[in-house]
Amino acid sequence: MESLDGKVAIITGASRGIGRATAKRLAADGAAVVVGYGSSTAGAEATVATIAEHGGRAIPVRADMGDAEAVDRLFAATLEEFGGFDILVNNAGTLVMGPTADTADDDLLRVFDVNTFGPFRALRHAARTINDGGRIVNVSSSVTGHPLANISVYTASKGALEHFTKILAHELAPRLVTVNAVCPGPTDTDMMADGFRETGAGWSPFSRIGQPEDVADVISLLVSERARWLTGQTIQASGGVVMS
Ligand SMILES: NC(=O)c1ccc[n+]([C@@H]2O[C@H](COP(=O)([O-])OP(=O)(O)OC[C@H]3O[C@@H](n4cnc5c(N)ncnc54)[C@H](OP(=O)(O)O)[C@@H]3O)[C@@H](O)[C@H]2O)c1
Repeated sequence: MESLDGKVAIITGASRGIGRATAKRLAADGAAVVVGYGSSTAGAEATVATIAEHGGRAIPVRADMGDAEAVDRLFAATLEEFGGFDILVNNAGTLVMGPTADTADDDLLRVFDVNTFGPFRALRHAARTINDGGRIVNVSSSVTGHPLANISVYTASKGALEHFTKILAHELAPRLVTVNAVCPGPTDTDMMADGFRETGAGWSPFSRIGQPEDVADVISLLVSERARWLTGQTIQASGGVVMS
């Protein structure tokens, strides 16, 4: 019997990258998956099709995490299709880089809308409706532990998410729901800046950047029954990066 048989997982940003790899991993573990996405309809449908080809069940739900009503619709669609959910992976994110001196208000607001406020709204839904014994994973970034120049807004947006993680772990413990954060290091997705792969690989003692599946496997562990004693933690899923 697969470890997530009978469970329902909502994964935001599952049309590409780490979210897609996580959707495929949790479906292979036995979960039915809600494939959240912002604009890549074809990508979300491809994730759903791959899961179906392997005998799993998934539905795509378009929900811009920067739009409060869209986040509401993501949870409404989940409840309508599956009647409840056991796992939330707050993975969708957006990156803006540049010197603080040149950062526009629009970028500041957009990054916090998508990386912080949208995930908070999702956490609020989960706090109200996730099934007892559920699992929540927030996808942060290794940059929160390794300050770098020219990435202030993104780093701060993820720092807030890590603090939500710690607080909600305490609030939901009575219902045996665990809440943890995962920090990928440089990972081979569309988000990785061109020309950055070699630098990123040099930060890991494994001398390579991560693949989305490397992070998905850590998330798979965190949402499993084996991780019942892990909560409120921020876990580096980064190949041991030390940035310099
Ligand atoms: N790649 C890295 O090196 C790295 C390192 C540390 C942390 N992370 C974090 O890992 C997570 C996944 O990133 P990734 O590397 O897999 O990036 P990616 O390949 O660019 O994928 C980003 C995903 O987020 C979704 N998304 C973006 N904006 C959205 C919005 N407004 N509403 C809903 N969905 C939205 C995208 O969906 P659509 O295309 O459909 O909009 C896509 O599915 C992010 O939170 C990122 O910050 C990545």
